[in-house]
Amino acid sequence: MLQIHEITALRAQVADWKHQGLRVGFVPTMGNLHDGHFALLELAKSRCERVVSSIFVNPTQFGPNEDYARYPRTEQRDIDGLARNGCDVAFLPSADVMYPFGIKNYVQMHVPGITDILCGAHRPGHFNGVATVVARLFNMVQPDAAVFGRKDYQQLQVIRYMTREMSFPVEIIAAPTLREASGLAMSSRNQYLSDDERITALEVFRTLQFMRDACIAGISSDHIEQQAFERLEAKGFEVDYAEIRAEDLGRLARARGNARVALIAAKLGRTRLIDNLEFEIIS
Ligand code: PAJ
Repeated sequence: MLQIHEITALRAQVADWKHQGLRVGFVPTMGNLHDGHFALLELAKSRCERVVSSIFVNPTQFGPNEDYARYPRTEQRDIDGLARNGCDVAFLPSADVMYPFGIKNYVQMHVPGITDILCGAHRPGHFNGVATVVARLFNMVQPDAAVFGRKDYQQLQVIRYMTREMSFPVEIIAAPTLREASGLAMSSRNQYLSDDERITALEVFRTLQFMRDACIAGISSDHIEQQAFERLEAKGFEVDYAEIRAEDLGRLARARGNARVALIAAKLGRTRLIDNLEFEIIS
């Protein structure tokens, strides 16, 4: 596996592959890789002949009181993991490569509408930062396809929307959420959890399952959301939201079709957990 830090070398490698008629896949990450990330790599490999993965902890997607400074950075272990899992290029840009004019006066992406709800409402500016860095990465890597996890369901929708609006010539591929045997969705932030919190954290997935079952049983979403909220609070969570939405994250009143998604974001101690569960209602 090649390790590349500069845009010129990256573009030359990708151009060379494309010249040979090889399809190039891309998996952006913030590092601290776990099996959820490696499953994305696996999916990219099954759909593309060559795969680039990036590691960059993006400062512009963290709020002032969030965990940018203490976000786990494990670069050497991540590079070894990428190599072991069949990645062809690890792209490791510095902050200067990513933001050549710094992060005070940088060109930003703003994806309206979908970024005002759910996590966007609780993390102002977060999705602008995500969209900005992903747009930059798409320009740097110039992949044919890019893989994103359904674990970050709203992020996936933001990327899809931006890609379509901006006509980026990149196919967006969605990967299923990888869970531990307990049901806990894998996440780099899980390592902030104490042993006790890890057990309590299972309540997130259980509550999502409760929301799904209640929705399929025809109970009103307002009622379900209130119950989910109370259930999580009773376990000691500080709940940002527990909602059922149409698959495009629009309000249920305007939903077309039967596809639904239950979404939760809640803090346990200092750790913010997000998870979601997609399902179909019976019409
Ligand atoms: P990060 O949190 O490192 O996640 C990188 C990718 O892995 C995302 O597409 C995310 O949805 C996916 N992922 C994480 N945990 C997963 C799991 N348990 N199952 C399946 N996929 C999982 O998301 C980001 O980084 C950043 O916002 C990024 C897109 C790289 C932009 O900075």
